[in-house]
Amino acid sequence: MRQAGRYLPEYRAMRERYGFLELCKNPDAATEVTLQPVRRLGVDAAILFADILLIVEPLGVGLEFARGEGPVIRHPIRGETDTVRLKPFDPEDAVGFVFETVRLVRRALPPTVPLIGFAGAPFTVASYLVEGGPSRDYLHTKRLMYEAPDAWHRLMDVLAEATARYLNGQIAAGAQAVQLFDSWVGVLGPDDYRAFVLPHTRAVIQKLTPGTPVIHFGTGTAALLPLMRAAGGDVIGLDWRVDLDAAWGALGHDVGVQGNLDPAVLLAGPALIRERVRAILDRAGGRPGHIFNLGHGVLQETPVEHVQALVDIVHELSDRRP
Ligand code: CP3
Repeated sequence: MRQAGRYLPEYRAMRERYGFLELCKNPDAATEVTLQPVRRLGVDAAILFADILLIVEPLGVGLEFARGEGPVIRHPIRGETDTVRLKPFDPEDAVGFVFETVRLVRRALPPTVPLIGFAGAPFTVASYLVEGGPSRDYLHTKRLMYEAPDAWHRLMDVLAEATARYLNGQIAAGAQAVQLFDSWVGVLGPDDYRAFVLPHTRAVIQKLTPGTPVIHFGTGTAALLPLMRAAGGDVIGLDWRVDLDAAWGALGHDVGVQGNLDPAVLLAGPALIRERVRAILDRAGGRPGHIFNLGHGVLQETPVEHVQALVDIVHELSDRRP
């Protein structure tokens, strides 16, 4: 889940002083923001403060984070001509500041708290590049896939190569696990996932430094879970639209799962939070390989005391298990 962000008063205070990209590019400030939820909430792992779109800046597409709007790509990639211009790029040159943040965070964290690095999966990053921002239907993205498949695959090849290098750079700098976010891949049906996404996500995961656990996350993916598993990952992220036990059973218990509380439950108070946590832990059945998490990131409107209550309740209820 995204655990840093605007629901935290100390994050909002940092944002008074820095623009979002400025914060990402300043390793001292990004380290501070990474540590905020760990200090305040006592979560079991830290997630690097960065963004999935930082690696596209070298493509010269005009990345901006407009206040309250999320990411904007000023010059979206729409057709063959745009993709022909795409050159392979090395994120080491462009996002060295992320690797520096990883080193600083690793130094600052207690050895018992692992650091999770991350990147966007090729489909989700491509969807921003093609749409120019968030989208409901992903029509530009689908049109490119269907009408210019060679251009689509070229774009995905370039992103897959850069993403693998980016994650390996984070691992080399000290990230102990990495999460690949395919947040919006649930807009595709299984055949399209198989043809247009799976080979590229698999290529990323196969290039990663062996020995580092990989969490493969998406939302709206009930129909795609077996294919996501086939693409790779030691742990598959589940959102709240599936029953954890049924989804885990279908995936197979030899892969881990992460999830799957609806982030909106944190708008309600501790009584409902407790009930829902218990239900998820019951479905996990005390089996090894379940990482308790939200099905997606913490919503901006969430009272911070409710996130605190969640962490405490998960610790309390899971400690009682054998
Ligand atoms: O601790 C953490 O979890 C923070 C690190 C983090 C951020 N982005 C910081 C951020 C992570 C893991 C991400 C990943 C990310 N970024 C994803 C995949 C995860 C997911 O939630 O699906 C996606 C799709 C993005 C693209 C992105 N960046 C969006 C859609 C937005 C706007 C979201 C919003 O809440 O408005 C961002 C901006 C962003 N990235 C913020 C943060 C803390 C909010 C920016 C702000 O301070 O104004």
